[in-house]
Amino acid sequence: MTVDRIVTMAHRLIEPRLKLARCVIDATAGNGNDTLFLAGSSPADAVIWAFDIQRQALQNVRELLCRHGLEHKVRLVNECHSKVALHIRQPIDVAMFNLGYLPGGEHGLITQAQTTTAAIRQTVALLSKAGIISVVVYPGHPGGSEEHETVRDYIRHLPGKQYKVACWSMVNQREDAPLLYIIEYLGGGAGESNPTGTNQGNN
Ligand SMILES: C[S@@+](CC[C@H](N)C(=O)[O-])C[C@H]1O[C@@H](n2cnc3c(N)ncnc32)[C@H](O)[C@@H]1O
Repeated sequence: MTVDRIVTMAHRLIEPRLKLARCVIDATAGNGNDTLFLAGSSPADAVIWAFDIQRQALQNVRELLCRHGLEHKVRLVNECHSKVALHIRQPIDVAMFNLGYLPGGEHGLITQAQTTTAAIRQTVALLSKAGIISVVVYPGHPGGSEEHETVRDYIRHLPGKQYKVACWSMVNQREDAPLLYIIEYLGGGAGESNPTGTNQGNN
């Protein structure tokens, strides 16, 4: 195994679950590289929901998907990802959050601590059994450190019996290097309290 870029590590870690996925979320579609990966690595009948607040970004995503013949698998949603629970009514198998701003785009349009955490919270509550979320955070961006702390504070308190939460970080690089978090829902027994929401296993 080689140590890849952090987003490539995210792809590698979620890929096995993606092969069995039916409902997939790209919470930050951006230039569409992650959406393309999710659409290309999931079963033919999987549906990928791709959110972005930038209309132009979604237009670019659509063009990228069309070039690869995968646009039929993707529903583009020009809304804040904190509205995810309004759109998704089924268990989520895989979700990707690649935070920060659009490379080559408007750096002011950056993900925000409160809406990011609200979106992760809703996605956690909708995870299927063995469902997985990857979150790449960029503490080096303006506002990125606050966003990282808010996200970390939320996910590190998820109950350990029901969720596995792991972190991948580069320990010999700059202190504010990007980090990757992985959240996996293990399922909860009948009657076991689930403070995060109402997960429904579908496996
Ligand atoms: C780092 S980029 C994502 C890169 C992308 N996944 C790719 O493969 O190219 C972050 C994206 O999040 C989007 N974004 C920022 N705030 C958002 C929000 N509240 N809801 C949805 N998308 C948001 C930005 O517009 C930007 O396109």
